[in-house]
Amino acid sequence: MDKRVNSSRSTSDPWDEVARHLGIDLYLDLQPDPTASPRGRGARRRHSLAEALRAAIDDGRLPAGTRLPPYRSLAADVGLARGTVASVYQELIAEGWLVARQGSGTHVADTVGRARTGTEPTAVTAEPPTPCHNFTLGQPNSSLFPRADWIASTRRAITDAPDDAFAPGHPQGTARLRRSLAGYLARARGVRAEPDQIVLTTSVMNALELLSRSVFGEDIAVESHGLPFHRHVIERGGTSTVPAPIDADGAVVDDLPDTATGVLLTPSHQFPTGVSLSPRRRAAVIEWARSGGRLIIEDDYDGELRYDREPVGALQALGPDVVIHAGSVSKSLSPAVRVAWLVLPPRLVDTVVWAKGIREPDASIVDQLVLADLIDSGAYDRHIRRSRQYYRRRRDRITGRLARTGVRVPGIAAGLHAVIPLPADTEPRLVAEAARRGFALAPLSFFRHPASGVTDGMTADCGGLGGGVVVGFGTPAASAFAADVEALADLVADYLPNRRLRAE
Ligand SMILES: Cc1ncc(COP(=O)(O)O)c(C=O)c1O
Repeated sequence: MDKRVNSSRSTSDPWDEVARHLGIDLYLDLQPDPTASPRGRGARRRHSLAEALRAAIDDGRLPAGTRLPPYRSLAADVGLARGTVASVYQELIAEGWLVARQGSGTHVADTVGRARTGTEPTAVTAEPPTPCHNFTLGQPNSSLFPRADWIASTRRAITDAPDDAFAPGHPQGTARLRRSLAGYLARARGVRAEPDQIVLTTSVMNALELLSRSVFGEDIAVESHGLPFHRHVIERGGTSTVPAPIDADGAVVDDLPDTATGVLLTPSHQFPTGVSLSPRRRAAVIEWARSGGRLIIEDDYDGELRYDREPVGALQALGPDVVIHAGSVSKSLSPAVRVAWLVLPPRLVDTVVWAKGIREPDASIVDQLVLADLIDSGAYDRHIRRSRQYYRRRRDRITGRLARTGVRVPGIAAGLHAVIPLPADTEPRLVAEAARRGFALAPLSFFRHPASGVTDGMTADCGGLGGGVVVGFGTPAASAFAADVEALADLVADYLPNRRLRAE
């Protein structure tokens, strides 16, 4: 058999050939018996090998169909003669544990292990049931993931990478991606960045955790509504968060507490209300930071997904000395990719890198290389343009349909989510009914800072009625979207504060 394999598959790399002969890597626990005589030890070892193989098949570690290593590689691994291993295989074949297939080696038999124990491998966690109307937040539509481009970039990036790209990486992340990102962020978001100012992480949340270990002081201000796990990660680092209210011009930055050493903002598209920080407030918050030696953390989580004609550039461009710009591909590509970035004022780079450690501890360098190729090849820009069209249509559809039931979705035409404002006491009733009708959506109160009162966080001019629900319109499958939107409009209409509006 080996000869046949040899002659039919010639390869330029002798290691390939060796690896093919060695077959699968198999860990077997062969307990030595130090008391046995040398001769007895050989017999014991043979017995242990047979027992270890039976046990591995019985407990499912070697599932049905698994191909076992050839005699000689297993013999070398366990320190037995080739003939001894061959005789163990024969014994297990005779007992029905293994089968020999002409020309393809020895395999675990189809039924025997499981039939003997009656145990099937069980799932570690059960998948949650899929909701009927899936408006889960925070996800782009998975069907849009640019699979072919990602595969092409993987091929190019891995082929072209120098050998040292596969060594433990630099704590700031690979220079290749930092160069690509510096160019991309300058071009697409107006960010002023040199590759040396960029630190790569796995996610915005991971970036906040890193900042909380390195640069945050005692207190930082946050928007009255935002992701609770972002606040938690900051608070776990020992920094208190103080809420600032939101109105139609974004976070009210004029009254930020003097004690705050910085502020975390989503200036391009406030999460979740959807409003954008006005130009006057942008200038004011930069001045607040500069005059008090403070920092602004700009979470630019969906900055590229803007659907009207006036793109809002990054706040960082106005104050690269005081703004830390954070972003990730979680909204633009997929939260499964786990690559994110911080653009730091130059004076903070050493502090943050020191907190990260001596090598890249988190984000996969291979994925970083692939993303760099995706950006440099133009495929990332093409994907963003395609995504914008797709989500713009979805947002228009949902806002248009809700408008017919009398609901105005606040905020700018951007992103992957929309807020449906409701009176505070309506929210829990609608959310309970939504769950009963099979909706996945989020109550607005979930995002409220605990120190922010029910109605004082958001003013009515940004849709704040004290309550509401937040829907992710990127998530529904294309085939379900139209029906999901109808079902959502029906649900909301049943709870409108003024049912008269339904007839209009
Ligand atoms: C407000 C906000 N910030 C940041 C992110 C990015 O998340 P990640 O931590 O996966 O980078 C999201 C994505 O859901 C978000 O909604």
